[in-house]
Amino acid sequence: MPPGFGRRDHDLLCDGVALADIAAAVGTPVYVYSAAVVRDRYRAIDSSFGGYPHALHYALKANSALAIARLLRGLGSGVDANSVWEIEVARRAGFDASQIVFTGVGKSPAELECAVALGVKAINVESAGELARVETIATRLDRQVPVAVRLNPDIDAKSHPHISTGLKINKFGVSMDEALPLLHALDRRPHLKLVAVHVHVGSQITSLEPLRRAAAFVVGVATDLRLRGMPIEYIDLGGGLGVSYDGGAVPTAEQYVTTLLDEVRRSGLPVVLEPGRAIAAPAGVLVARVIDVKPRDASSEFAVIDAGMTELLRPALYNAFHQIEPVTTNDAAPRRYEVVGPVCESSDVVGRDRLLPPLAEGDLVAVRDAGAYGSAMASNYNRRPLPAEVLVDDRQWRVIRRRQTIEDQLALET
Ligand SMILES: Cc1ncc(COP(=O)(O)O)c(C=O)c1O
Repeated sequence: MPPGFGRRDHDLLCDGVALADIAAAVGTPVYVYSAAVVRDRYRAIDSSFGGYPHALHYALKANSALAIARLLRGLGSGVDANSVWEIEVARRAGFDASQIVFTGVGKSPAELECAVALGVKAINVESAGELARVETIATRLDRQVPVAVRLNPDIDAKSHPHISTGLKINKFGVSMDEALPLLHALDRRPHLKLVAVHVHVGSQITSLEPLRRAAAFVVGVATDLRLRGMPIEYIDLGGGLGVSYDGGAVPTAEQYVTTLLDEVRRSGLPVVLEPGRAIAAPAGVLVARVIDVKPRDASSEFAVIDAGMTELLRPALYNAFHQIEPVTTNDAAPRRYEVVGPVCESSDVVGRDRLLPPLAEGDLVAVRDAGAYGSAMASNYNRRPLPAEVLVDDRQWRVIRRRQTIEDQLALET
């Protein structure tokens, strides 16, 4: 059996462990992750480079559970941290500062101060202003700080508009009109060391063309800088590789890396990648219980489950599709359901218009491919507690985050 989620008879298992057993012990809603899938997905990207010099910096924003971060560290990954708090998670997961790239469009002065003091591998700066703020701190601390400049190549990633980041109208990176003079002047700023040029044109990208164009673009810029005598050390191509949520075809890790290397190889520069979703999404499911079933219209019913936009925001936020299936199937004729969460918003729909075996109160359902941007985006709206998280590894499972309690929430308040 391939690693991850599959059926034995009627029961959905994660690497040999019945999801129903986990739900019975831990309760619902619960995220369940397969360590084997995380390993597989990481290694698929890593090994596709062959001997070409590279470093994978797993994007913690996708899923920053300590146990997942530790697992990736064990595989040789570095991290991309998008806040000082993700940097702290990385540190507690055992990553050295030299394994952390610090990204993000709005790093506060306090966050920059921390990253400079820590000596991260690079601060991926997003604007001329941020570069100046880093320089001020570096000058005060008398440090030379490694920086990568994130370029905005004005490339359409053709992903959902909310997760496309490479167009000029998007808030990310430095536009090309501004970038060239800024980059060319960097060798006259001794407290800044330009180590890389960076690009990230979006997430859930399912066509290789925008990724290829973005790579070609930064290679061009890096080559120009090297000709000017600026010792660029590597190219950071961000993340973005999509996964198949609906069973449709997406590029393989090998096709992805081959496409990037076709553009980068001529420069000879090492590559940094920041994959998040492609590693974590297929490694997780969200298990929830049916609370209620009630009529909707002539052809469908509502199945109200105990997880919704508070546990998995993606459907409400991006109209994202996740496959939903009963944890234990039966052979009865399927019925049509609107699978909805318990939250007080009409947008709290986990799955629209789904044909599923008949569901009854108390049944368990699994929402697939929820390992990335699932738990990481969960909230306490309606005072709902953050869900528990479980990691299955080598046929054993353990709780890697207990369910939040109302006491945990109220402990912050006076
Ligand atoms: C700068 C940067 N790098 C990496 C990622 C990870 O992207 P993905 O999860 O699509 O691989 C993101 C997320 O959007 C990002 O903003």
